[in-house]
Amino acid sequence: MSKVRRVRLRPGKAEKIRQQRHPWLFSGAFAPDTIAESGDTVCVCDEHGQPLAYGHWDAESPIRCRVFSWGSAKLQPNETFWQSQLERALHLRRALPDLRLTNSYRLINSEGDALPGIVVDVYDKVAVVQLRTPGAERLRPTLLRFLTSHLSLKGIYLRRESSSASEWIWGERTPEVLLEEHGLFFKVSIETGQKTGFFLDQRHNRQLLRYYSQGRKVANFFAYTGGFTVYAAAGGATELLSVEIMPEPAHLLLENLRLNGFSHIPHTLWVEDAFDALQKVEKDYWDIIVLDPPAFTHHQDAVPQAIRGYKEINRRALRLLPKGGLLFTFSCSAHITPQLFRDILLSAAMDADRPVQILHFLHAPPDHPIDLFHPQGEYLKGFVLKVE
Ligand SMILES: C[S@@+](CC[C@H](N)C(=O)[O-])C[C@H]1O[C@@H](n2cnc3c(N)ncnc32)[C@H](O)[C@@H]1O
Repeated sequence: MSKVRRVRLRPGKAEKIRQQRHPWLFSGAFAPDTIAESGDTVCVCDEHGQPLAYGHWDAESPIRCRVFSWGSAKLQPNETFWQSQLERALHLRRALPDLRLTNSYRLINSEGDALPGIVVDVYDKVAVVQLRTPGAERLRPTLLRFLTSHLSLKGIYLRRESSSASEWIWGERTPEVLLEEHGLFFKVSIETGQKTGFFLDQRHNRQLLRYYSQGRKVANFFAYTGGFTVYAAAGGATELLSVEIMPEPAHLLLENLRLNGFSHIPHTLWVEDAFDALQKVEKDYWDIIVLDPPAFTHHQDAVPQAIRGYKEINRRALRLLPKGGLLFTFSCSAHITPQLFRDILLSAAMDADRPVQILHFLHAPPDHPIDLFHPQGEYLKGFVLKVE
């Protein structure tokens, strides 16, 4: 394990940083003569050389340091330290009652587990790893030792931004996995799927839709491999519509309906743009509409455009629903805060000229813990709205 470098903050910066405990320290916070290499473990000190945090350095990113430990006590971020951080994440998952009902879950959630840059999703006997920072990249051997000694795995897949750079880094190549969640089954394509293969963060919200679906017609926009469609079928929906722009997940969606024995339920699949589909859907026909779009922005600069996109789809959906209809609506963009999303929905309801009640505030489940000091971790938010 490399040695710890000391990096100094600019005068006057330390107190606020200590108080706010935000795990991202930006380049402007550091003294100009600070030298460290990307991936280095650093001890962040105030202008007098007093330590206040330990983190990983990234010389290329505006987020210059990602803190994984706060406090002035001397720390030795060695193998033992990292193994115990990883074990803490595993113990949290093992104690979650919710995870008894699935074979797939998020084991490590980056800042939410004080393991910045590391994401690990477990799909039955396959772990999919993302190492999003140079500091996380250096922990790859430690993480591998941990995963292979604590879990009973068949294979470990390292997922990179581009699929050609992704690879199996341990065990057998296992490109397809059967995920079980709340007694339902989904085929997950580890190598070609979106995210790490499945949207594990919507588990609770899919189950909620199931409870509301009895005797109702459910339309699922941005459907991916049919998570919400299959749950609606399981809940007793009488008719289903799924809209997904990508052919490959759309194909898996049909397989997933078959796999769960729901082929007899009337189902229409449109492989097309949801914005267009929302325009041609018959008014007052669908009792429940689900909108789970991809993040409309990954940058602060594109927020105004994203706001227009969210408003547009929600306005259209609110207009389409009959009296008493339900809208399950989500945003998974970290730049759209829960309050901003709520404001967008308000504005959409005003334009649609419909009275609307909020029935549920929705989030990711607890295997996606959020550091309270890191609001960006709360990327997924949703509402169930009842329209009159
Ligand atoms: C957040 S995912 C949905 C996850 C899904 N609800 C689930 O639980 O598995 C968003 C999906 O929208 C699809 N998509 C992106 N742009 C789209 C568009 N303009 N029209 C329809 N689908 C789109 C993506 O391919 C992706 O499958």
